[in-house]
Amino acid sequence: MTIGRQPVPNPVWAAPLAGYTSRAFRDLAREAGCGLACTEMVSATALAMGCQSTRKLIDIDGEPPPVAVQLFGSRPEIMARAAATVEQSGASIIDLNFGCPAPKVLKNGEGAALMRDPGRVGEIVRAVVKAVTVPTTAKIRKGWDEELVNAVEVARAAEDAGAAAVTIHGRTCRQLYSGKADWGIIRQVKLAVGVPVIGNGDIWQPEDARRMLELTGCDAVMIGRGALGNPWIFSRTRTLLETGETPPPPSLEERAAMALRHLRMEIAARGEIWAVREMRKHLIWYFKGYPGASVLRDRLVRAGGLSEVEDLVGQFLEGQRAE
Ligand SMILES: Cc1cc2nc3c(=O)[nH]c(=O)nc-3n(C[C@H](O)[C@H](O)[C@H](O)COP(=O)(O)O)c2cc1C
Repeated sequence: MTIGRQPVPNPVWAAPLAGYTSRAFRDLAREAGCGLACTEMVSATALAMGCQSTRKLIDIDGEPPPVAVQLFGSRPEIMARAAATVEQSGASIIDLNFGCPAPKVLKNGEGAALMRDPGRVGEIVRAVVKAVTVPTTAKIRKGWDEELVNAVEVARAAEDAGAAAVTIHGRTCRQLYSGKADWGIIRQVKLAVGVPVIGNGDIWQPEDARRMLELTGCDAVMIGRGALGNPWIFSRTRTLLETGETPPPPSLEERAAMALRHLRMEIAARGEIWAVREMRKHLIWYFKGYPGASVLRDRLVRAGGLSEVEDLVGQFLEGQRAE
C-alpha cells in the first residue's frame, strides 16, 4: 500500500504511545514485521522554541523508512514550521495528533480538543501539507463525547485539506482509553473518505486485527497497548493475514530474552540509568499475567542497573519453572 507517495510494506502498524514508542521499541516492532512505526507525539510549540528535550523525541536518525513522526499543536503556522523541521530530520510521514485527551494538552486547545473544531483541523492540515513534501496524516478520535460524535466530519475536513490518510481511534475524548472502542465509526469514516483509513482501538490479539479489517473495511490497522511487551503481535498478525493461521504465542523464555534485549537496546540508545528506569513499565508488560509478575514489578522498582534487572528476571524465570 502507499500513503501519498510513500510505500508502506504492510497494513499492520504500531500506534504512537507516549513514553513507550522509543527508537528501540520501533526497531523491535519493525523487526517483527510492523509496516509503519511512529514516534510519540512531539509538541510543535516546544520544537519551534528550540527545546532540546523535545528535539530528542525525534530519535529517527538513520532509522529505516518508513517512519512517522507525530506532532501536536493548535496553531497552523507553528505546526507548519515544526513539520518542516521534522521533515529535515528524515521523517517519511508527518502524523498530526487530534486525539490526545491529556488535560494539559486539552487546556491549550491541542490534541483531542481540536475534535470540537473541524475547521481548525482543516487549517492545520492545510498549513502542514503546504510546508512539507512528505505525506501528512491525521490521527483522530470518534468524537469529543457521546453528544459530539463527529469523526466523519473531522476526517472529511482533514482529507479536503490534503491529508494522505486518516487514523481513527474508536473512542471519544471523554472515554480516554476505557470502554470498548467503537469499530462502527471506523466503518463510517472508511465509507466517507477516499484516502486510506487506518483503524485503531482494542486490537489485543491477531484475530482482532483480522476482524477489524473485515468488519470496517479499513486499509490498515494500528496496534497500541496490544504491542506493549509484545512485538510478536506484528509477526503473528501478519502470518494470520497472509496464511490464515496464527502462530503460537511466545514462551516465557522468549519473553524474558526479548525483554532483556529491549533493555540493552534502550541502554545503547539512552544510557543505563535512564533505560533501567524507563524500562520498568515495559518489563511489566512483558511478564503480565504470569504468577509472581507483581513481585517482580515491586523488585524492579529498586533495580538500578542492567545486571540487577538480569538477576531479577533470572530469578523470576526460576520461580516460574518451580511452579
Ligand atoms: C500510554 C499511552 C500513550 C499514548 N500516546 C499517544 C501519542 O503520543 N499519540 C497518539 O496519537 N496516541 C497516543 N496514545 C493512543 C494510542 O495511540 C491508541 O490510539 C490508543 O491506545 C488506542 O489503541 P489500543 O486500544 O490499541 O491501545 C497513547 C495511548 C496510551 C495508552
